[in-house]
Amino acid sequence: MIGLLKRMFGDPSEKELKKLEKVVEQINQLESNISPLTDAQLQHKTTEFRSRLADGETLDQLLPEAFTVCREASKRVLQMRHFDVQLLGGMVLHKGEIAEMKTGEGKTLVATLPVYLNALAGKGVHVITVNDYLARRDSEVMGQLYSFLGLSVGLNVHGLTTDEKREAYAADITYGTNNEFGFDYLRDNMVIYKEQMVQRPLNFAIVDEVDSILIDEARTPLIISGQAQKSTQHYGAAARFVQTLREETDYTLDEKAKNVMLTDEGVAKAEKAFHIENLFDHANVTLNHHITQALKAKVIMKRDVDYVVENDEVVIVDEFTGRLMHGRRYSDGLHQAIEAKEGLEVQRESMTLATITFQNYFRMYKKLAGMTGTAKTEEEELRKIYGLDVYVIPTNRPMQRQDLPDVVYKSEEGKYRAVVEEIVNRHKTGQPVLVGTISIENSEAYLTN
Ligand SMILES: Nc1ncnc2c1ncn2[C@@H]1O[C@H](COP(=O)(O)OP(=O)(O)OP(=O)(O)O)[C@@H](O)[C@H]1O
Ligand SMILES: [Mg+2]
Repeated sequence: MIGLLKRMFGDPSEKELKKLEKVVEQINQLESNISPLTDAQLQHKTTEFRSRLADGETLDQLLPEAFTVCREASKRVLQMRHFDVQLLGGMVLHKGEIAEMKTGEGKTLVATLPVYLNALAGKGVHVITVNDYLARRDSEVMGQLYSFLGLSVGLNVHGLTTDEKREAYAADITYGTNNEFGFDYLRDNMVIYKEQMVQRPLNFAIVDEVDSILIDEARTPLIISGQAQKSTQHYGAAARFVQTLREETDYTLDEKAKNVMLTDEGVAKAEKAFHIENLFDHANVTLNHHITQALKAKVIMKRDVDYVVENDEVVIVDEFTGRLMHGRRYSDGLHQAIEAKEGLEVQRESMTLATITFQNYFRMYKKLAGMTGTAKTEEEELRKIYGLDVYVIPTNRPMQRQDLPDVVYKSEEGKYRAVVEEIVNRHKTGQPVLVGTISIENSEAYLTN
C-alpha cells in the first residue's frame, strides 16, 4: 500500500493521501473492537454517533469509528469488506474532493462510507448518478446496508408525484440523476408556498461519473418554459428558404462546435429571398435569428438521433441516456424551427420561466464531492470552476488492463476509416471485437464503411 503510493511520486495529492493512510491504519485497528459486536450492538452505533454529534463532536472526529462500523455492516449485509484503498477513496469524498478510481474498483461501495458518516448529521446526502437505472440499482443494493444501520433511503426518479418526491428528499440519503435533482430545484423555485417545495437545503452531494456531469454537461441549461404570445409565421418561410442552401457555398459547418454559419453568398441569397437590403440591419434581427435556427435545424439537428417525431410532435432524445424527454423543448426558437423543418404545426414560442445550468446547481451544495475513473485530465477545470481537487487512488491490486489515451480525429470520416481499419486488422488475427457507439445511426455508419 505504502509502496503503491510511492509509485505516484510527484503527485501533489500524494502528501495528503499519506496522511489519510494513517487513518486507514486506525480504522483497521478499530475493526477488532467492532467485529465482535452483535448485529443489534452494531446497529445501535448509529444512535450513539448521532447523540455524540448532538453533544458537539464533529463528523471528522467520528470518521474512523463510523467508517469501521460501515465496513463491518457491509461485511454482514453485502458480504463485501471495503478494501483499504476504498477507505482512502471514502475519505477523499468526505473531504469534499474528487476520488479518481479506475473502473471496477468499486466506487459504488466507496460512496457508502462518506454517505453513512454524513447522513448521521440528518441534513441529507445526495448521491448523483447519470441515469435512473444506476440510481435505482445503487439505492436498492446499498440501501440494504443503510437500512441495516438505521438510515432511510429515498430514490428520486422521473415521474414521481410531489409527495413522493418530498418523501425521497426527506430521507437521510437520496439517490437520483442530475437531471431530476436540477429540475426539482427549478420547480421548487416556482412554487407559491414554501410547503409546496420538495427539496431541503442542498447539503452534501456525491457525484458519480463526476467528469461527465460536472464538465461535459456543466453548461447544459435546464429550462422550464411556458407559452409567450409571439407569432409563429416566420418559421415556415425560414425553413423553406434554408432548403435552397448548399453546404460550403451558402453555409459552413463546424461539426465539433455544432455551429453553422451563412457565407457571404448565403447572406446575399437571404437578402434576395426576403427582399431586404441588409440581413444584419437592426430591423432584421428577428428574421436573421429565424434563418440561423432554421439552418441549425436543417444541418445539425438529426431526426432519430437528437429528436424523434411522435404523434406530430418533436420530442427531444436525451443525448446521454437515449430516453425521450417528453414535454421538454429546445430553447430560443430551435424547437419551432425543427417543427417547421418536419412540416409539423409550429407551437407557440415558449418563454423561459426558470433556468439553471448544472454548474450553478452543483455549486449550491454546502459540500460537493465526486468520483470517476478519469478526472486527472480535467483537473484544471474542476479546480477552477468548483474548487475540487483530484486525488488519484491506487488500485487495490496492480493494474493488468492497459488504458490507452483518447485518439482525436479531424473529421468524422477519418475517425470511421481508422476504426474500421483497426477492426479489420484485429479480426484477421481472430480476435473478437465489441464496438460500442452512442446511437443506432452511428452503428450503421460503421457497418456501411
Ligand atoms: N470490497 C469489495 N469486495 C468485493 N467486491 C467488491 C468490493 N468493492 C466492489 N466490489 C465489486 O466490484 C464490482 C465493481 O464495482 P463498481 O461497479 O462499483 O465499480 P466502479 O468503480 O463504479 O466501476 P465503473 O468505473 O465502471 O463505474 C461490483 O461487482 C462490486 O460488487
Ligand atoms: Mg460506477
